[in-house]
Amino acid sequence: MGLLNGKTALITGASRGIGKAIAVLYAREGADIALTNIADDDEFRSTVKELETIGAKAKGYVSNAAKFEESQQVVKDVVRDFGRIDILVNNAGITRDTLLMRMTEEQWDAVIAVNLKSVFNLTRAAIMVMISQKSGSIINMSSVVGVSGNAGQSNYSASKAGIIGFTKSVAKETGSRNIRCNAIAPGFILTEMTEKLPEDVKKEWTNKIPLKRGGTPEDVANTALYLASDLSSYVTGQIIHVCGGMLT
Ligand code: NAI
Repeated sequence: MGLLNGKTALITGASRGIGKAIAVLYAREGADIALTNIADDDEFRSTVKELETIGAKAKGYVSNAAKFEESQQVVKDVVRDFGRIDILVNNAGITRDTLLMRMTEEQWDAVIAVNLKSVFNLTRAAIMVMISQKSGSIINMSSVVGVSGNAGQSNYSASKAGIIGFTKSVAKETGSRNIRCNAIAPGFILTEMTEKLPEDVKKEWTNKIPLKRGGTPEDVANTALYLASDLSSYVTGQIIHVCGGMLT
């Protein structure tokens, strides 16, 4: 008996990394999976196949989470194909790291649109479905730097801090409808996003982590499973740090 039997999850930006790990774990726990990606590439198609191999009903949708209309459409398409949405994971995210004095307007706007506006777009659309179902769990991917700030990431940190305010507000607005909304704040997780960081930066970060290692996408997925499942039925409006103690 899986923890998510009979549930449908919509996960944004799930072709690889943390989003993919969440999709795989949810599928193993019995959920049907609708996943989105910005591009219809090999990586995305192979993730959808992998989920089907696990035995889940899975379908990939090419949709830019930063676009309001596309997000409305993808939620409509998922309801048409799956009949419901029990879990929404707002995972899609990008970085455009640079010091503020060098940051362009494009770098600022891109990060705010993909990381923060996307969370509004998808939640705004999915909330209507969850209200009519009288239940739902929304999980937003923030970051420890949304709490602490980080030099060279003023755009990214601002987007992730914005997610925290949004998460708490949505939890307060929708709790009476049996909809929960929480955020995960991962620390340094080993994915393609962090792979491009210089070696010395990676070493320095790892040294500062009490558990002395970078996290894995599976570490984050385990918390996302808890928040999606009924194990967390009395938990809403919370930000759970998955960071090996980095921000303590
Ligand atoms: P990643 O770069 O490996 O994966 C991001 C995914 O989002 C990819 O599938 C990409 O194609 C997709 N994507 C990008 N823009 C999109 C858009 N506009 N619409 C739809 N899909 C889009 O990143 P990773 O590391 O797996 O991160 C996932 C989330 O976790 C992000 O929100 C990131 O900010 C957050 N996070 C990651 C940390 C890390 O150390 N890797 C730490 C803290 C937070």
